[in-house]
Amino acid sequence: MSTHHVVAIDGPAASGKSSVSRKVAEKLGYAFVSSGLMYRAFTWVVCEVGLDPEADPDAVVALLDKTKIEASRRDNELFLLVNGSDPGDALTSDYVNGNVSKVAKIPDVRKALVKQQRACAEATDIVMEGRDIGSVVFPDTPYKFYLDASEVVRARRRAAQGLGDEIAERDRLDSTRKVSPLKVADGATKIDTSDLTLPQVVEALLGQLSEQGVTPSST
Ligand code: CDP
Ligand code: CDP
Repeated sequence: MSTHHVVAIDGPAASGKSSVSRKVAEKLGYAFVSSGLMYRAFTWVVCEVGLDPEADPDAVVALLDKTKIEASRRDNELFLLVNGSDPGDALTSDYVNGNVSKVAKIPDVRKALVKQQRACAEATDIVMEGRDIGSVVFPDTPYKFYLDASEVVRARRRAAQGLGDEIAERDRLDSTRKVSPLKVADGATKIDTSDLTLPQVVEALLGQLSEQGVTPSST
Protein backbone atom coordinates (compact mmCIF):
# COMPACT_ATOMS: atom_id res chain seq x y z
CA MET A 1 0.00 0.00 0.00
CA SER A 2 1.02 3.60 -0.61
CA THR A 3 2.86 5.62 2.00
CA HIS A 4 1.18 8.81 0.80
CA HIS A 5 -1.72 10.46 2.58
CA VAL A 6 -5.16 9.78 1.15
CA VAL A 7 -8.17 11.85 2.16
CA ALA A 8 -11.26 9.88 1.11
CA ILE A 9 -14.52 11.76 0.52
CA ASP A 10 -17.70 9.89 -0.40
CA GLY A 11 -21.35 10.79 -0.74
CA PRO A 12 -24.34 10.97 -3.08
CA ALA A 13 -24.62 13.25 -6.12
CA ALA A 14 -24.48 16.99 -5.41
CA SER A 15 -23.54 16.53 -1.76
CA GLY A 16 -20.59 18.83 -2.48
CA LYS A 17 -17.83 16.22 -2.89
CA SER A 18 -15.95 17.69 -5.83
CA SER A 19 -16.14 21.36 -4.77
CA VAL A 20 -15.09 20.50 -1.22
CA SER A 21 -12.38 18.04 -2.27
CA ARG A 22 -10.86 20.51 -4.73
CA LYS A 23 -10.64 23.17 -2.04
CA VAL A 24 -9.32 20.85 0.67
CA ALA A 25 -6.68 19.53 -1.78
CA GLU A 26 -5.67 23.08 -2.64
CA LYS A 27 -5.33 24.03 1.04
CA LEU A 28 -3.26 20.94 1.86
CA GLY A 29 -1.20 21.00 -1.33
CA TYR A 30 -2.49 17.54 -2.29
CA ALA A 31 -3.65 16.44 -5.75
CA PHE A 32 -7.42 16.34 -6.26
CA VAL A 33 -8.83 13.22 -7.90
CA SER A 34 -12.46 12.70 -8.93
CA SER A 35 -12.97 8.95 -9.27
CA GLY A 36 -16.38 9.68 -10.81
CA LEU A 37 -14.62 11.23 -13.79
CA MET A 38 -13.01 7.87 -14.52
CA TYR A 39 -16.40 6.11 -14.55
CA ARG A 40 -17.74 8.93 -16.71
CA ALA A 41 -14.79 8.70 -19.12
CA PHE A 42 -15.27 4.98 -19.67
CA THR A 43 -19.05 5.44 -20.01
CA TRP A 44 -18.34 7.97 -22.75
CA VAL A 45 -16.43 5.28 -24.66
CA VAL A 46 -19.32 2.84 -24.15
CA CYS A 47 -21.57 5.52 -25.60
CA GLU A 48 -19.33 6.19 -28.60
CA VAL A 49 -19.32 2.48 -29.45
CA GLY A 50 -23.10 2.41 -29.05
CA LEU A 51 -23.37 -0.30 -26.38
CA ASP A 52 -26.29 -0.73 -23.98
CA PRO A 53 -24.57 -1.51 -20.63
CA GLU A 54 -27.58 -3.31 -19.20
CA ALA A 55 -28.31 -5.42 -22.26
CA ASP A 56 -24.68 -6.30 -23.00
CA PRO A 57 -22.40 -6.04 -19.97
CA ASP A 58 -19.98 -8.61 -21.45
CA ALA A 59 -19.33 -6.35 -24.45
CA VAL A 60 -18.72 -3.45 -22.05
CA VAL A 61 -16.14 -5.53 -20.16
CA ALA A 62 -14.48 -6.54 -23.47
CA LEU A 63 -14.21 -2.85 -24.30
CA LEU A 64 -12.06 -2.27 -21.18
CA ASP A 65 -9.08 -3.95 -22.87
CA LYS A 66 -9.39 -1.67 -25.88
CA THR A 67 -9.68 1.51 -23.83
CA LYS A 68 -6.73 3.51 -22.64
CA ILE A 69 -7.48 6.00 -19.90
CA GLU A 70 -4.36 8.03 -19.18
CA ALA A 71 -4.23 10.21 -16.08
CA SER A 72 -1.82 13.09 -15.73
CA ARG A 73 -1.53 15.86 -13.17
CA ARG A 74 -2.33 19.43 -14.24
CA ASP A 75 -2.55 22.29 -11.75
CA ASN A 76 -2.98 19.79 -8.90
CA GLU A 77 -5.91 18.04 -10.62
CA LEU A 78 -6.08 14.80 -12.47
CA PHE A 79 -6.57 15.26 -16.18
CA LEU A 80 -7.85 12.36 -18.27
CA LEU A 81 -7.13 11.42 -21.85
CA VAL A 82 -9.33 8.67 -23.22
CA ASN A 83 -7.81 6.81 -26.16
CA GLY A 84 -5.76 9.94 -26.73
CA SER A 85 -8.72 12.37 -26.69
CA ASP A 86 -10.02 14.84 -24.11
CA PRO A 87 -13.72 14.00 -23.60
CA GLY A 88 -14.40 17.56 -22.35
CA ASP A 89 -18.07 18.40 -21.80
CA ALA A 90 -19.13 14.95 -23.00
CA LEU A 91 -18.40 13.72 -19.46
CA THR A 92 -21.50 15.53 -18.17
CA SER A 93 -23.69 14.84 -21.21
CA ASP A 94 -27.19 13.43 -20.76
CA TYR A 95 -26.03 10.07 -22.15
CA VAL A 96 -23.24 9.79 -19.59
CA ASN A 97 -25.44 10.98 -16.72
CA GLY A 98 -28.08 8.44 -17.71
CA ASN A 99 -25.72 5.47 -18.16
CA VAL A 100 -22.76 5.93 -15.83
CA SER A 101 -24.36 4.11 -12.88
CA LYS A 102 -25.28 1.19 -15.15
CA VAL A 103 -21.66 0.93 -16.31
CA ALA A 104 -20.30 1.45 -12.78
CA LYS A 105 -22.24 -1.48 -11.36
CA ILE A 106 -20.42 -3.98 -13.60
CA PRO A 107 -17.89 -5.72 -11.26
CA ASP A 108 -15.05 -6.01 -13.82
CA VAL A 109 -15.34 -2.32 -14.69
CA ARG A 110 -14.93 -1.44 -11.02
CA LYS A 111 -11.97 -3.79 -10.66
CA ALA A 112 -10.11 -2.06 -13.52
CA LEU A 113 -10.87 1.48 -12.39
CA VAL A 114 -10.15 0.81 -8.70
CA LYS A 115 -6.68 -0.35 -9.76
CA GLN A 116 -6.12 2.97 -11.55
CA GLN A 117 -7.47 4.90 -8.56
CA ARG A 118 -5.07 3.16 -6.17
CA ALA A 119 -2.20 3.96 -8.53
CA CYS A 120 -2.96 7.69 -8.11
CA ALA A 121 -1.65 7.56 -4.54
CA GLU A 122 1.67 5.99 -5.53
CA ALA A 123 3.23 9.29 -6.55
CA THR A 124 1.65 11.90 -4.30
CA ASP A 125 -0.71 12.79 -1.45
CA ILE A 126 -4.29 12.94 -2.73
CA VAL A 127 -7.84 13.94 -1.91
CA MET A 128 -10.04 11.47 -3.79
CA GLU A 129 -13.81 11.68 -3.95
CA GLY A 130 -16.41 9.15 -5.08
CA ARG A 131 -18.76 6.52 -3.69
CA ASP A 132 -16.50 3.75 -2.36
CA ILE A 133 -13.20 5.51 -1.69
CA GLY A 134 -13.26 5.05 2.10
CA SER A 135 -14.99 1.66 2.00
CA VAL A 136 -13.19 -0.14 -0.85
CA VAL A 137 -10.49 1.82 -2.69
CA PHE A 138 -8.55 3.02 0.38
CA PRO A 139 -10.17 1.26 3.37
CA ASP A 140 -7.02 1.70 5.48
CA THR A 141 -6.79 5.47 5.31
CA PRO A 142 -7.60 7.13 8.63
CA TYR A 143 -8.92 10.22 6.81
CA LYS A 144 -12.46 9.43 5.69
CA PHE A 145 -15.49 11.66 5.21
CA TYR A 146 -19.05 11.11 4.07
CA LEU A 147 -20.87 14.20 2.82
CA ASP A 148 -24.64 14.21 2.61
CA ALA A 149 -27.48 16.68 2.02
CA SER A 150 -31.24 16.33 1.73
CA GLU A 151 -32.62 15.22 -1.63
CA VAL A 152 -34.35 18.57 -2.09
CA VAL A 153 -31.16 20.55 -1.48
CA ARG A 154 -29.12 18.31 -3.78
CA ALA A 155 -31.68 18.55 -6.61
CA ARG A 156 -31.70 22.34 -6.17
CA ARG A 157 -27.90 22.48 -6.37
CA ARG A 158 -27.83 20.48 -9.60
CA ALA A 159 -30.56 22.61 -11.15
CA ALA A 160 -28.62 25.74 -10.17
CA GLN A 161 -25.65 24.31 -12.08
CA GLY A 162 -27.89 24.13 -15.15
CA LEU A 163 -27.51 20.36 -15.37
CA GLY A 164 -30.51 18.18 -16.20
CA ASP A 165 -29.23 15.30 -14.12
CA GLU A 166 -31.56 12.60 -12.73
CA ILE A 167 -29.60 12.32 -9.51
CA ALA A 168 -32.31 10.45 -7.59
CA GLU A 169 -32.15 7.54 -10.04
CA ARG A 170 -28.33 7.52 -10.01
CA ASP A 171 -28.31 7.53 -6.22
CA ARG A 172 -30.78 4.66 -6.15
CA LEU A 173 -28.62 2.57 -8.50
CA ASP A 174 -25.39 3.52 -6.70
CA SER A 175 -26.78 2.66 -3.25
CA THR A 176 -28.40 -0.65 -4.19
CA ARG A 177 -25.78 -2.27 -6.44
CA LYS A 178 -24.21 -5.50 -5.20
CA VAL A 179 -20.57 -4.47 -5.60
CA SER A 180 -19.21 -1.50 -3.64
CA PRO A 181 -22.49 0.33 -3.05
CA LEU A 182 -22.52 3.90 -1.81
CA LYS A 183 -22.43 3.73 1.98
CA VAL A 184 -20.82 5.38 4.98
CA ALA A 185 -17.40 3.74 5.35
CA ASP A 186 -16.31 2.43 8.74
CA GLY A 187 -14.65 5.24 10.63
CA ALA A 188 -15.88 8.02 8.30
CA THR A 189 -16.87 11.42 9.68
CA LYS A 190 -20.38 12.17 8.41
CA ILE A 191 -21.29 15.75 7.58
CA ASP A 192 -24.76 16.93 6.55
CA THR A 193 -24.06 19.86 4.25
CA SER A 194 -27.73 20.84 3.63
CA ASP A 195 -27.47 24.02 5.68
CA LEU A 196 -23.75 24.65 5.35
CA THR A 197 -21.93 26.86 2.88
CA LEU A 198 -19.01 25.47 0.93
CA PRO A 199 -16.42 27.31 3.10
CA GLN A 200 -18.10 25.94 6.24
CA VAL A 201 -17.83 22.36 4.97
CA VAL A 202 -14.20 22.89 3.97
CA GLU A 203 -13.49 24.32 7.41
CA ALA A 204 -15.14 21.31 9.10
CA LEU A 205 -12.98 18.88 7.12
CA LEU A 206 -9.77 20.80 7.67
CA GLY A 207 -10.58 21.05 11.40
CA GLN A 208 -11.04 17.28 11.67
CA LEU A 209 -7.89 16.61 9.61
CA SER A 210 -5.92 19.01 11.74
CA GLU A 211 -7.01 17.11 14.88
CA GLN A 212 -5.65 14.00 13.17
CA GLY A 213 -2.34 15.73 12.52
CA VAL A 214 -2.88 16.61 8.85
CA THR A 215 -2.14 20.28 8.26
CA PRO A 216 -0.77 22.19 5.28
CA SER A 217 2.58 22.62 7.04
CA SER A 218 2.90 18.90 7.81
CA THR A 219 2.98 17.89 4.12
O1 CDP B 1 -19.34 16.42 -6.43
P1 CDP B 1 -20.77 16.47 -6.01
O2 CDP B 1 -21.70 15.97 -7.07
O3 CDP B 1 -21.01 15.78 -4.70
O4 CDP B 1 -21.16 17.98 -5.72
P2 CDP B 1 -20.52 19.35 -6.29
O5 CDP B 1 -20.50 19.28 -7.77
O6 CDP B 1 -19.27 19.65 -5.56
O7 CDP B 1 -21.58 20.41 -5.78
C1 CDP B 1 -22.80 20.65 -6.47
C2 CDP B 1 -23.13 22.13 -6.36
O8 CDP B 1 -23.50 22.43 -5.02
C3 CDP B 1 -21.95 23.07 -6.68
O9 CDP B 1 -22.43 24.15 -7.47
C4 CDP B 1 -21.50 23.55 -5.32
O10 CDP B 1 -20.95 24.84 -5.35
C5 CDP B 1 -22.80 23.54 -4.53
N1 CDP B 1 -22.62 23.39 -3.07
C6 CDP B 1 -23.23 24.27 -2.21
O11 CDP B 1 -23.93 25.18 -2.67
N2 CDP B 1 -23.07 24.17 -0.86
C7 CDP B 1 -22.35 23.18 -0.32
N3 CDP B 1 -22.22 23.09 0.99
C8 CDP B 1 -21.73 22.24 -1.20
C9 CDP B 1 -21.89 22.37 -2.57
O1 CDP C 1 -20.57 14.47 -9.41
P1 CDP C 1 -21.56 13.40 -9.11
O2 CDP C 1 -21.61 13.09 -7.65
O3 CDP C 1 -22.89 13.62 -9.69
O4 CDP C 1 -21.07 12.08 -9.85
P2 CDP C 1 -19.61 11.52 -10.06
O5 CDP C 1 -18.83 11.57 -8.80
O6 CDP C 1 -19.03 12.18 -11.25
O7 CDP C 1 -19.89 10.00 -10.37
C1 CDP C 1 -20.64 9.59 -11.49
C2 CDP C 1 -21.09 8.15 -11.28
O8 CDP C 1 -19.93 7.30 -11.28
C3 CDP C 1 -21.80 7.85 -9.96
O9 CDP C 1 -23.19 8.13 -10.02
C4 CDP C 1 -21.51 6.36 -9.79
O10 CDP C 1 -22.39 5.57 -10.57
C5 CDP C 1 -20.12 6.22 -10.40
N1 CDP C 1 -19.07 6.21 -9.37
C6 CDP C 1 -18.86 5.03 -8.69
O11 CDP C 1 -19.57 4.05 -8.90
N2 CDP C 1 -17.86 4.94 -7.79
C7 CDP C 1 -17.07 5.99 -7.53
N3 CDP C 1 -16.06 5.87 -6.66
C8 CDP C 1 -17.29 7.22 -8.20
C9 CDP C 1 -18.32 7.31 -9.11
